[in-house]
Amino acid sequence: MYKVNDNYLKLPGSYLFSTIGKKVNAYAAAHPDSRIIRLGIGDVTQPLAPAIIKALHSAVDEMGDAATFRGYAPDLGYEFLRNAIADNDYKARGCEISADEIFISDGAKCDSGNIQEIFSLDNRIAVCDPVYPVYVDTNVMAGRTGVYDPQKEIWSNVIYMPCTQENDFVPCLPKETPDIIYLCFPNNPTGSAITKEQLQEWVDYANRVGAVIIYDAAYEAYISQEDIPHSIYECQGARTCAIELRSFSKNAGFTGVRLGFTVIPKELKAGDVSLHSLWARRHGTKYNGAPYIVQRAGEAVYSEEGKAQLREQVAYYMKNAAYIYQGLKDAGYTVSGGVNAPYIWLKAPRGMSSWEFFDYLLENANVVGTPGSGFGPSGETYFRLTAFGSYENTVEAVERIKAL
Ligand SMILES: Cc1ncc(COP(=O)(O)O)c(C=O)c1O
Repeated sequence: MYKVNDNYLKLPGSYLFSTIGKKVNAYAAAHPDSRIIRLGIGDVTQPLAPAIIKALHSAVDEMGDAATFRGYAPDLGYEFLRNAIADNDYKARGCEISADEIFISDGAKCDSGNIQEIFSLDNRIAVCDPVYPVYVDTNVMAGRTGVYDPQKEIWSNVIYMPCTQENDFVPCLPKETPDIIYLCFPNNPTGSAITKEQLQEWVDYANRVGAVIIYDAAYEAYISQEDIPHSIYECQGARTCAIELRSFSKNAGFTGVRLGFTVIPKELKAGDVSLHSLWARRHGTKYNGAPYIVQRAGEAVYSEEGKAQLREQVAYYMKNAAYIYQGLKDAGYTVSGGVNAPYIWLKAPRGMSSWEFFDYLLENANVVGTPGSGFGPSGETYFRLTAFGSYENTVEAVERIKAL
């Protein structure tokens, strides 16, 4: 008789966004005339930029001609894309990352979930609290997190690093020593950013204690302030302690197109074992590459035309972010984020819990956000709104909230 991986059975409840989806669907079914505005899930709404559409069309044409048809992609991804990434995302920012340290994938969710596979089950992970749920849940599935305490909503073998108003939503170095540290900046869900000086402290710490940092920079394109690093490799010593994850979802609207990459410097070693070679082996064995046409679209992100169009797209969302931030502040809410990230993090008013505020907002303003408690215990009483809606919907949602 076969057995299942019973680590899956330890996962509490359903995935946050399925719960939200069910609640919203039930409300919509009961109130068919309501016009619900969704500022909950972090999905983009603007269409792909013209430079990307052009690249997609031209790659599709290549696939229809025997002379230019492509089959399986090279294991790490096409060189044209890895070179564009190395030049634009790294060399241009003074980071020493070469094209052969970049692994192209179909997005940062898979990479952030899969990367734990190359580490022993004995490792202790540290995560921000609140946190993007994928980091914790994939470690639960692997059997690395110990026992769940449903009262406290924490795992016995996970080090939680609270991100609160007191520390400006940037974690302090943990008291217990972790082996694997997940950091995500600009942050989902809090919208906070880390300065280069603060990140350098983390890099120094990881090198000192022999930990690896998994740095998720999916929202890098939203950075607007000077002292905020776009990559962890802007910090001295990051090549010996950090893996970086990137996505094309938020900077270029590829949430449905699917493209991302992971950077593993060759110096990153556990003893004499190179993490680069482990990930190369994993990638080669379990993954057959992002589609050629999508990698060509990714290349267009770095063309002059593409860059200009995407700057506008990011600016569009950030205009929404500024509108939400200011509107809620004017209405008396305690708000943060929204400056280097497309997320606004607000405190639920009048002592409401995150889910109470979710229901209140859904029922009274027909606006959907995300309860902060869904991202971890320190998210309780907080609430996340995203700037990824249309400007018109964003304005209307804010006006409805202000009128409550
Ligand atoms: C922090 C973070 N990492 C990764 C992802 C997923 O990115 P992708 O669409 O590339 O899988 C998200 C998506 O919301 C995210 O918030």
